[in-house]
Amino acid sequence: MMDIIRTEGVGRCFETPAGPFWALKGIDVGAPEGKLTILRGRSGSGKTTLMNILGALDFPTEGKVWFGDREISAFSEAEQTRLRREQIGFVFQSVALIPMMNALENVEYALRLAKYQGDRTARAMECLRLVGLSQRADHMPQELSGGEQQRVAIARAIAHYPKVLFADEPTGALDTASGLAVVKLFRELTDQQGVTIIMTTHDPGIMELGDRVYELSDGRLVTDLDEGLENETEAGTDAASAVQGGDPIQGDSLKEGDGHGE
Ligand SMILES: Nc1ncnc2c1ncn2[C@@H]1O[C@H](COP(=O)(O)OP(=O)(O)O)[C@@H](O)[C@H]1O
Ligand SMILES: [Mg+2]
Repeated sequence: MMDIIRTEGVGRCFETPAGPFWALKGIDVGAPEGKLTILRGRSGSGKTTLMNILGALDFPTEGKVWFGDREISAFSEAEQTRLRREQIGFVFQSVALIPMMNALENVEYALRLAKYQGDRTARAMECLRLVGLSQRADHMPQELSGGEQQRVAIARAIAHYPKVLFADEPTGALDTASGLAVVKLFRELTDQQGVTIIMTTHDPGIMELGDRVYELSDGRLVTDLDEGLENETEAGTDAASAVQGGDPIQGDSLKEGDGHGE
């Protein structure tokens, strides 16, 4: 299974009144295609900064980011925008559905923005079905629970068939049960729809559902993660150092033995 997104020595420096501040330093990570990758770490550890760079919303100050065989850290802003529109979906902690539109219309509207050429209503309904909300298609956002609203947001984010879905603390505003339902939905989307998902969380109960888990601390990767998840974490480090060798394709030569039957 290849890493659809990879980074090589990524750092991000912000100019602050107190001087330059490195929010990320020396980040080598990869997200395997069709799998669920989780970034964990305390508030302020750099999760959102890294997600924004992986999701082509921001550029690294140093290092490289690859999306498939394209180096997106060398993209122009216009190329980034196009990549996001066509291949990337986003879900955030604050859901931000459009309040005057019902669930179906919210998803349809996103398809219109994405210039989706097919039958938007049919595709929107299909996505609501995928997230288990076809019965709620005509409900307004305020008539839905927080967990249901987040699932509409997920339907909206995957409607244009993105290759990668980014979810920044998607369970952060939800109760435990709703949060777990969202992550189980993510598992279905990876296992049954082949979507690649990268999410952040600081909920330990959620982390064990990830195929690969990275931990950030003060902008750096923590390498001695608790094992017992699986060897994926180590494999990720190996893949990253293979990429460091100069050939981004090298990372793919790393075969993960557990691609099936989970
Ligand atoms: N635009 C910015 N300007 C200055 N500092 C920033 C900016 N964005 C994030 N930071 C700082 O970078 C660090 C990491 O932030 P963030 O990535 O949001 O962490 P997390 O998502 O893990 O809570 C924090 O110390 C934060 O204050
Ligand atoms: Mg954050």
